[in-house]
Amino acid sequence: MNEVSRAAALLRAGELVAFPTETVYGLGADASNPQAIAKIFAAKGRPADHPLIVHLPDASHLERWAVDIPEAARKLAAAFWPGPLTLILKRHPSVLDAVTGGQDTVGLRVPNHPLALQLLREFGGANSGANGGGLAAPSANRFGHVSPTTAAHVREELGGTVAMILDGGPCAVGIESTILDLSGGEPRILRPGMLDAEAIGAVLGCLPAFGGEQNAPRVSGSLDAHYAPSTPLQLVAAADLAATAAQALADGRRVAVLAPEAPVHIHQKMVWSAASADAAQFAHELYARLRELDALGCDLILVAAPPAAEAWRAVADRLRRAAAGSK
Ligand code: TXA
Ligand code: MG
Repeated sequence: MNEVSRAAALLRAGELVAFPTETVYGLGADASNPQAIAKIFAAKGRPADHPLIVHLPDASHLERWAVDIPEAARKLAAAFWPGPLTLILKRHPSVLDAVTGGQDTVGLRVPNHPLALQLLREFGGANSGANGGGLAAPSANRFGHVSPTTAAHVREELGGTVAMILDGGPCAVGIESTILDLSGGEPRILRPGMLDAEAIGAVLGCLPAFGGEQNAPRVSGSLDAHYAPSTPLQLVAAADLAATAAQALADGRRVAVLAPEAPVHIHQKMVWSAASADAAQFAHELYARLRELDALGCDLILVAAPPAAEAWRAVADRLRRAAAGSK
């Protein structure tokens, strides 16, 4: 039996399998099996009211999971699936509460990674009924930690709690999918990703709005403390970086710096990691860099704040939360 067939068999048996996607690695379970879903929450240490994204082999599966599907969803699926876009739609009545966090909506996406698609087809093929063939998969990290972009990261995060880790190499995109709410009202981006508002707007015919409702933290990735390394991380305007680093060094602290250019001349207690000036490349490397810098055991990670341009929105969002989460 090949790796993918073995993974599909484990998933059918209610086990957890981590698999690669183009964004980050997912921790997969049969979305129609409540015991399997419970294992996800236990493995991640994640609060049970946080909904999960259901991964599908292709858009023809939408009707099994959602109702009142708007034309916009079909257009976006045709344009961007497989790809880093999650659509929030009205849930089909048979979708498990454990998957939706008890909400009347469900998050759906078709990931763009050959191994993920192979797995979804093999797993989905044997489950043709309503709510069959979907894999619920959050990012394969412990709750609040940095998301994994390699199989080795998944092993560090979840080790023995998963039955199998499918290794598909480093994730191409590197940060989580864009989440777009199409469940009613105007289209709204709940979590920015590398598929940006402009690309979505070009298909919709109008730019989506941003942000979830206040007082309703429906997207766990929208909590302030998230994606965090254990070393305190501080976002600093590029112009202030040298002074901030110098001050920390003067205080006797060991400092790791992630910035496009070295902030001060070489210092024994400073490590500089060269950051890409290209948003897509920066996103691709971001989580692996944060893990590397975290592993140095410094007292502080300083990150140069990215440009205020739209192309950097998703990266800036993750960095802001990493800074909030590491306090
Ligand atoms: O790129 C991704 O989306 C990755 C890969 C594995 O597909 N998955 C991912 O899952 O980032 P997770 O669980 O770490 O983040 C999914 C986010 C959560 O913050 C969750 O609250 C939100 O999606 N979500 C899921 N269903 C939702 C719903 N019905 N309404 C609002 N937010 C929802
Ligand atoms: Mg996550």
